[in-house]
Amino acid sequence: MEKVTHISITLFLLLTISAYSSFAQTPESVYEVFIQCLTQHTANSSSSTQIKNIVFAQTNPSFTSVLQNYIRNSRFNTTSTSKPLIIVTPLQESHVQGAVICAKNMSIQIKIRSGGHDYEGVSYISNEPFIILDLFNLRNISVNLEQETAVVQTGAILGEVYYKIWENSKVHGFPGGACHTVGIGGTISSGGYGNLLRKYGLSVDRVIDAQIVDSEGKILDRKSMGEDLFWAIRGGGGSSFGVVISYTVKLVSVPKTVTVFRVMKTLEENATDLVVQWQQVAPTTDDRVFMRLLLQPRPKNVLVSVVALFLGEADEVVSIMEKEFPQLGLKKEDCNETSWIGSVIWWDNGEAFKNGAKPQTLLDRNLNSARFQKRKSDYVQKPISKEDLELLWKKMIELGTIGLVFNPYGGKMAEISSDATPFPHRAGNLFKVQYSVSWDDPSEDAEQKYTDQAKSLYDFMSPFVSQNPRSAYLNYRDLDIGINHFGRNSFEEGQVYGLKYFNNNFDRLVKIKTKVDPNNYFRNEQSIPVKM
Ligand SMILES: Cc1cc2nc3c(=O)[nH]c(=O)nc-3n(C[C@H](O)[C@H](O)[C@H](O)COP(=O)(O)OP(=O)(O)OC[C@H]3O[C@@H](n4cnc5c(N)ncnc54)[C@H](O)[C@@H]3O)c2cc1C
Ligand SMILES: *[C@@H]1O[C@H](CO)[C@@H](O)[C@H](O)[C@H]1NC(C)=O
Ligand SMILES: *[C@@H]1O[C@H](CO)[C@@H](O)[C@H](O)[C@H]1NC(C)=O
Ligand SMILES: *[C@@H]1O[C@H](CO)[C@@H](O)[C@H](O)[C@H]1NC(C)=O
Ligand SMILES: *[C@@H]1O[C@H](CO)[C@@H](O)[C@H](O)[C@H]1NC(C)=O
Ligand SMILES: *[C@@H]1O[C@H](CO)[C@@H](O)[C@H](O)[C@H]1NC(C)=O
Ligand SMILES: *[C@@H]1O[C@H](CO)[C@@H](O)[C@H](O)[C@H]1NC(C)=O
Repeated sequence: MEKVTHISITLFLLLTISAYSSFAQTPESVYEVFIQCLTQHTANSSSSTQIKNIVFAQTNPSFTSVLQNYIRNSRFNTTSTSKPLIIVTPLQESHVQGAVICAKNMSIQIKIRSGGHDYEGVSYISNEPFIILDLFNLRNISVNLEQETAVVQTGAILGEVYYKIWENSKVHGFPGGACHTVGIGGTISSGGYGNLLRKYGLSVDRVIDAQIVDSEGKILDRKSMGEDLFWAIRGGGGSSFGVVISYTVKLVSVPKTVTVFRVMKTLEENATDLVVQWQQVAPTTDDRVFMRLLLQPRPKNVLVSVVALFLGEADEVVSIMEKEFPQLGLKKEDCNETSWIGSVIWWDNGEAFKNGAKPQTLLDRNLNSARFQKRKSDYVQKPISKEDLELLWKKMIELGTIGLVFNPYGGKMAEISSDATPFPHRAGNLFKVQYSVSWDDPSEDAEQKYTDQAKSLYDFMSPFVSQNPRSAYLNYRDLDIGINHFGRNSFEEGQVYGLKYFNNNFDRLVKIKTKVDPNNYFRNEQSIPVKM
């Protein structure tokens, strides 16, 4: 009897050691152990069948489609792209808690994916063994019009948020990005901006509460997480701190009628003068006006487009522009008056708007669709001269494909202090630059060619943009600006990209990270490092 007990204890220990030790992990063993652990940890709320249905092994026939559904950059959709050991798709909060507890116990990295729009695929690829916690099922949104708030689960997409607001009210909106498939978990935790930025600031400026699952699997809200952690997950990137389950946001007022317009000019049509004047007007004009500038190379030419939203009627914006921005030559015929939700559709997809698309189109998740792309960002703090713009055109025409997007700041952005949230790029910035190149050729040569264009234009721009640090926008993830390598928690490496994304807020983020996740369980290629 004693002997049997002894043997079974030894066996149990052996099994336990091999099951839980990280070097013995095969996808199959990870799946088995994880399922067992998660079933145990969710026994109160879920059946074992339900748990089996939300965990996808590599051998599951649906594994590939679940993985590809939220890949938004085809560069990370190749056979050589790293693949998760398993994908977990929580249906309720307890599944997230259990997943964190079990994956941590097995010493496996978790990558958290909401909408999958990370430009470098950081939410679904890794340089160490990992699982994906894919939150697309956690997408409830509840709007409370009396309080002018909405509770939004992080697996929701922006289009669903805009749609839900529209269902409840035609005079409320939310300041977030223009592309309706972007996920809440990524975009809000790292800032979030759109065409209401000059009037209402960033998405994070409207967050009043949040729920997060921490590295011990506990669910915390604003009160129980405390103001430090609550500050950190409003722009510091959620994935350094835990799994954000929901954000509670304050809605904003929008008028019944708003105006959108797009004006395009080539170099022969004095586009250069237009850009010179845009730099003076766009960041300083009435904060109801948001005018994005698109610069696209054409053979021996550059096409300049001004794409705008005005929170008011066409006559008023035409008269403001006549006075302040004569180079634009805006006429009422260039304008479309519409509702706020109409302007969301127009900004998301001008063709769809023209064809009379309904707000329901904002619910379409466009699964498994992407192009190859590379993005980078910069901040411009003093206007670029006409002579320098002409050199820029020459450079862009020579490179041939890469374009630039200028997004004006000022207005509300300049009124919010640079340490109110981790996002530091406030007063003093005229506009943000996005470098934007997309392509369809899957060859390595094409990748080399287009990413080289991005690097070359970025180098060219260095005299004209912020310096020490050369600032960048976390939501425009760019691994060229620094990376924390496999298995390391290098403060020095973290500081390189950290200062660019967060400027003087980096130190506070490091302190908070060190306090809430001292073992650096929640980590990725550009997470906040721990410093003891
Ligand atoms: C087509 C397109 C248009 C865009 N337009 C805009 C725009 O107008 N304005 C703007 O500000 N940005 C824009 N972006 C950038 C976008 O905001 C970021 O890529 C954002 O991080 C994407 O969020 P996601 O949930 O879709 O991405 P994911 O890839 O799922 O996540 C991005 C990062 O956030 C982490 N994360 C995601 N969910 C959670 C969570 N619940 N808890 C903790 N961490 C989490 C991930 O681990 C990853 O590190 C655009 C991107 C694309 C591809
Ligand atoms: C499950 O329910 C029991 C009894 O109500 C409780 O003691 C236990 O903490 C619960 N477990 C989890 C993981 O919630
Ligand atoms: C990924 O690649 C597959 C082919 O292997 C293709 O069918 C799919 O559309 C691609 N998806 C994305 C998002 O690139
Ligand atoms: C989402 O809302 C539905 C309907 O109110 C509810 O049944 C469900 O439990 C909610 N899901 C989560 C994950 O909160
Ligand atoms: C994992 O869980 C097992 C079983 O509950 C426990 O014995 C072990 O200590 C845990 N390991 C870690 C690293 O948390
Ligand atoms: C461009 O500017 C010049 C000089 O101001 C002017 O003569 C010309 O008419 C402008 N061209 C267009 C197309 O507006
Ligand atoms: C938008 O404005 C353009 C230019 O005036 C016009 O041709 C078009 O019909 C308008 N579209 C809608 C949907 O109002």
